[in-house]
Amino acid sequence: MDLRRNRRDVIDFYNQYDEDGRLERHPVEFVTTVYVLDNLIRSMGRLLDAAAGTGRYALHFARKGHQVWAEDLTSKNVDILRRKLEIEPSISMDTRVNDARNLSVYSNGFFDTVFYMGPIYHLPESEVASAIGEALRVLRPGGLVALSFVNKYPGYSESEYSKWINSHAVQEILSNIPSSEFSVMKVVACDGPGFNGLERILSEKTEDPIAVTEWLVSHQELFESEVALDNCCHGLVVGIKNESV
Ligand SMILES: C[S@@+](CC[C@H](N)C(=O)[O-])C[C@H]1O[C@@H](n2cnc3c(N)ncnc32)[C@H](O)[C@@H]1O
Repeated sequence: MDLRRNRRDVIDFYNQYDEDGRLERHPVEFVTTVYVLDNLIRSMGRLLDAAAGTGRYALHFARKGHQVWAEDLTSKNVDILRRKLEIEPSISMDTRVNDARNLSVYSNGFFDTVFYMGPIYHLPESEVASAIGEALRVLRPGGLVALSFVNKYPGYSESEYSKWINSHAVQEILSNIPSSEFSVMKVVACDGPGFNGLERILSEKTEDPIAVTEWLVSHQELFESEVALDNCCHGLVVGIKNESV
C-alpha cells in the first residue's frame, strides 16, 4: 500500500486504524505538543485544526477558550470527535470533513492559529509546498502555524512506516516553507530522542501528567536538540506568518 498515491488510501488506512487511541499509546508526543503549543499560544482567537483526527488537540484548545474549527479528511475520525462534543455541550466547535489542501471556504487571514498536523506526511512531495501555502493563506499575518512532519530517523527506511509515509528530515521540511512568509519559532522532536526508547523510559511517569510536565520543563532543550531532531519520529515546526505578507 502506498498512502501517498491518493486520498482514498489515506481514508482506508484511518478507517481501519485506532487513531483515537494513538496519543494514549504515544503520550510523550501528546504531552510535548500540548506543552509547546500552550506556551506559544497566549491569546484566544480563531483556531483551525485542519487535520484534527479525533480532536485531541482541538478539544484541548476549545476548552481553553479558543473558537475552534476542526476538520479532517477521514469522516470516521470526524464522527468520533462529534460524539465527544455531544457529551461536552459546553464546547461549541465547527466540524467538517475536508481535504486540507483546499481551504477555499475561508478567506485570506481568517484564522489566528492554524494546526496542520497530519496532511504533510500523507502527501506526495510535489504537493507539500502548496499545501503549506494553503495553510499560510488562511492565517493572519502575525498568526501562529504548527506543522507536523514525520522525521527520517535512523532505521526509518527499514520501518513499516516508510512504505506509506512521506518523511522529511528537518532541513527538508523547512525547505518547503517559504522563508519570506514564515519565521520559524521552534522545531521540536515531539517524541524526544529515540522514538520508542524514551516512551518506554517515561512509561511510568506518563501516568502522572504533572510529573511529566515537570520533567519536560526541566528538559525542554532536549526536545529541541540536534540529537532529538535527528532521532525522533514526530517533529513539529512552529512559526509565525510574517507581518509583511
Ligand atoms: C496521525 S493523524 C494526526 C491527528 C492529529 N492532528 C494529531 O496530530 O494527533 C493524521 C490525520 O490526518 C488526516 N489527514 C491526512 N491527510 C489529510 C488531508 N489532506 N486533509 C485533512 N486531513 C488529512 C487523517 O485523516 C488523520 O486523521
